[in-house]
Amino acid sequence: MDKPDCDPRRLDNTYRQFGAVNRAVSGWRRLYLRELRPLLSVAPTTILDIGCGGGDIAVMLARWALRDGLVLDVTGIDPDPRAIGFALRRPPVRGVQFRQAHSSALIREGAVFDVVISNHVLHHLTPGELGVLLDHSGKLARNKALHNDLRRSRLAFALFGVATLPLPASFIREDGLTSIRRSYTPAELTAAAPAGWRVEAGAPFHQILALRRT
Ligand SMILES: C[S@@+](CC[C@H](N)C(=O)[O-])C[C@H]1O[C@@H](n2cnc3c(N)ncnc32)[C@H](O)[C@@H]1O
Repeated sequence: MDKPDCDPRRLDNTYRQFGAVNRAVSGWRRLYLRELRPLLSVAPTTILDIGCGGGDIAVMLARWALRDGLVLDVTGIDPDPRAIGFALRRPPVRGVQFRQAHSSALIREGAVFDVVISNHVLHHLTPGELGVLLDHSGKLARNKALHNDLRRSRLAFALFGVATLPLPASFIREDGLTSIRRSYTPAELTAAAPAGWRVEAGAPFHQILALRRT
């Protein structure tokens, strides 16, 4: 799916299936309950989702907050026109907006959010891009930044390979397996992160690179 000329129908299926895969494995319900809901109130709390892809995490968080009667204002950004195009074609959800933008554009604007998040982005980046993302998210986050990503393991690779066999018309299986192979162990992520960032346990086969101000 990273190839610019990949099959657009398979790509759309992939963005659609990310919603189900992320709901099942990425641990955002627990992160919402532990990390986000305690900050929410009837006054808006702002969240920036960097590299939002097809936008499913932003929508999921906003829906949970709405259901809890709390006000969350989520901005999802991604410079990839195909990803943000899919996100923008979603039915509107109160408190969610998407923009085609790289984090550097928000830095130039002097934007600040209560919390900055990302999901399954870190393993996609070169060491230089990882440094940029962490620098930007540190500057954009008023309260905390939480980068949720895969944790590399042979068991994750084997289980994901079997679980995604019934998903032939998308890139989920091949890209997911590549992503697991490229992802960090906790020791590698700790070594790659600048001072102030901590690697914390996440959902099964996941870890969180966190920066906390309080
Ligand atoms: C694998 S996708 C993650 C999709 C989505 N978060 C999900 O969980 O389905 C990674 C995305 O991060 C975006 N990205 C990488 N660095 C970025 C940055 N500094 N600012 C904004 N987006 C970025 C890429 O364009 C890519 O679409």
